[in-house]
Amino acid sequence: MISITFQAEQQVFHLATDTMSYIMKIEEGDLLAHHYFGKRIVDYHGIRQYPRIDRSFSPNLYDATDRLFSKDTLPQVYSGYGAGDFRVPALVLEQANGSKVTDFRYAAHEIYSEKNEIHGLPQIHSENSQTLAIEMQDQSLPDVQLFLYFSLVEGKDAVIRSAKLVNRSSEKLMIRKFDSCQLDFLESDFECLNFPGAWGRERQLVREKINTGIQTISSSRGASSHQQNPFTALIKEQTNEFVGDAYGISLIYSGSFQFSIEKDPFNQLRVNAGLNPLNFNWLLTKDQEFQTPEVVLVYSDQGLNGMSQIYHQLYTENLLRGNYQKQQRPILVNNWEATYFDFDEASITTLIEESAELGIELFVLDDGWYGKRNNDQTSLGDWEVNAEKLTNGLNGIINAAKQKNMQFGLWLEPEMISETSELFKQHPDWAIQIPNREKSKSRDQFVLDFSRQEVRTHIYQKVAAILTQYDIRYVKWDCNRNLSEVYSLALDAAQQGEVHHRYILGLYEFLEQLTQDFPHVLFESCSGGGGRFDPGMLYYMPQTWTSDNTDAVARLKIQYSTSLVYPIVTMGSHVSASPNHQTGRTTSLKMRGDVAMSGVFGYELDVKELSETEKDEIKEQVRFYKQHRQLIQFGDFYRLLSPFEGNDTAWAFISKDQKECLVFYFKVLEEASAPLCILKLAGLKNDELYHNEKLGTFSGSELMNAGIYTSIEQTGDFRSECYYFKMV
Ligand code: GLA
Repeated sequence: MISITFQAEQQVFHLATDTMSYIMKIEEGDLLAHHYFGKRIVDYHGIRQYPRIDRSFSPNLYDATDRLFSKDTLPQVYSGYGAGDFRVPALVLEQANGSKVTDFRYAAHEIYSEKNEIHGLPQIHSENSQTLAIEMQDQSLPDVQLFLYFSLVEGKDAVIRSAKLVNRSSEKLMIRKFDSCQLDFLESDFECLNFPGAWGRERQLVREKINTGIQTISSSRGASSHQQNPFTALIKEQTNEFVGDAYGISLIYSGSFQFSIEKDPFNQLRVNAGLNPLNFNWLLTKDQEFQTPEVVLVYSDQGLNGMSQIYHQLYTENLLRGNYQKQQRPILVNNWEATYFDFDEASITTLIEESAELGIELFVLDDGWYGKRNNDQTSLGDWEVNAEKLTNGLNGIINAAKQKNMQFGLWLEPEMISETSELFKQHPDWAIQIPNREKSKSRDQFVLDFSRQEVRTHIYQKVAAILTQYDIRYVKWDCNRNLSEVYSLALDAAQQGEVHHRYILGLYEFLEQLTQDFPHVLFESCSGGGGRFDPGMLYYMPQTWTSDNTDAVARLKIQYSTSLVYPIVTMGSHVSASPNHQTGRTTSLKMRGDVAMSGVFGYELDVKELSETEKDEIKEQVRFYKQHRQLIQFGDFYRLLSPFEGNDTAWAFISKDQKECLVFYFKVLEEASAPLCILKLAGLKNDELYHNEKLGTFSGSELMNAGIYTSIEQTGDFRSECYYFKMV
């Protein structure tokens, strides 16, 4: 049961789930102090009241009679800038007099039995939720309100936070920094997890010590990016996949973001998360308000698997939406790595017919079907079918798919424009650019100014026309460059710092409309693979193309890291040709299948080139995936062995009723006289018996504590094994 209470006598707010507590207290001067976040406390009596202690050079309140209480050291819920707390501020607000100093204190609060709804941003939704809204006031800004929101969702050990500023004064305010959340910890013996990466090498899990000073995890690319991800976790040195404290911090946003972690001189820690303040400012005039994106804070004492499972359940049930939220996702085949731009109706029809024979359910036509798009230098924005390639239009191949009982899906990149395009001839000013400044090229394309309504309206009409005219059941929404020379020709100088965020708000508005108008379409987002794999995109599109790198070995690390936060049902993963197009590595079809099956399964290779043996193997993979699809896509996921720690990787899918278990084991390189690998399973019932056709029958406790020997009879690099256990 979730509960939010305010103990008036103690001035304490206590947010609790069955296993977690989050506690704040109103202290001297109405400062809102952070007391505790962690394992559930049954009855809180104020043990974390911050010690009163004189710290030289840490300022005190004006009316204080001693030097024992300072904003500079007190763990706080949300700090302003420049009023005695010298740590990283959550809010920097420039006022008409030029001052940027703010000092918001507790003023009032409200507790209500629903999730607070925020306008225009992706967010957690729930029918069974409670929210605490705290109103904060700055004495010098009597007509400005700061609201801090804290929501709990029934059954989930998470706190969802966001903040809102409302300007009721006639003063023009300029927001310079506005974080979604600040989280102060008294202890700092944490390590920090984050996901640095690059194109084709997204989310390479890093676990590092927190040093004194400020460490940031950020993107300034206008996208959540390949290079980082809007997520971090603070864990203890002894935390592993199964035991130990893990605090997750996940920002529901798809644009530039910043997390900062500051370890202060007293070994206290402050974590901030929100929009990236670099090149950000937001003008707030009379009666306007500004709402930050949401942050999802998760606590688990069951290690990283515990933390991930909370995110998986919360994001599957309370972030994803639409017809496909809880529906099994089709097995698709995508023509990109089979043909690239070089295809016509005949070759596509052959691919459709051949893949239908294999049992594949959805055919996706990737880039190259529109305008004069025979390479990546032209035609973005000209969303008309290329009749030279597709002589009978899209319907020629849609009908070919229908005849084979397959659904049809299409690739689109609506946010972009090529300089060589009809759209650019008509609207050169629609590309994001700064007058009299060279525009950086990236993949020979520019970004459309989605902060502008008329741009969005034009593109919306084009996209909606395609989805209305044709029987399209799936869209791959791509985005193949980041934002540079960020500027909008439609805004004046004072508002140029708004463009980054307005772009994302424009994109969200577009996607909200699109997903409402076309609820039967399954949308998969993509940004050169996983360049925008974030909770914001998942709110509109329930799956993401995890990486352009389809190499089975590289995918172990990418998928392993991605699963730290994001549910398996959101991770698109395909079997591609060998040698692999990104790494040149040769791997078996078995291993490629087992890796890709550990996500939302599909193929991305030239099915015409397959031998009969390979076709038979693929038919079997497809049959097997269909049989276990519910378990894989919606079961509980356990990471067992990490590809970042050695040669062996393993993970398992356990059905919600714990009756079924599917384990995948991967060995990257072979050795002579190799040590044995014992694989201990997880998530089973101790006393029940589980049967595997090849290995026999064992108790859950046997499988979890004694474990199974992996692959003793086989040799060779890049191997995988799959074990299915069923409760007897
Ligand atoms: C991006 C995507 C690829 C493919 C190409 C097409 O790189 O990530 O999967 O769709 O664009 O141009």
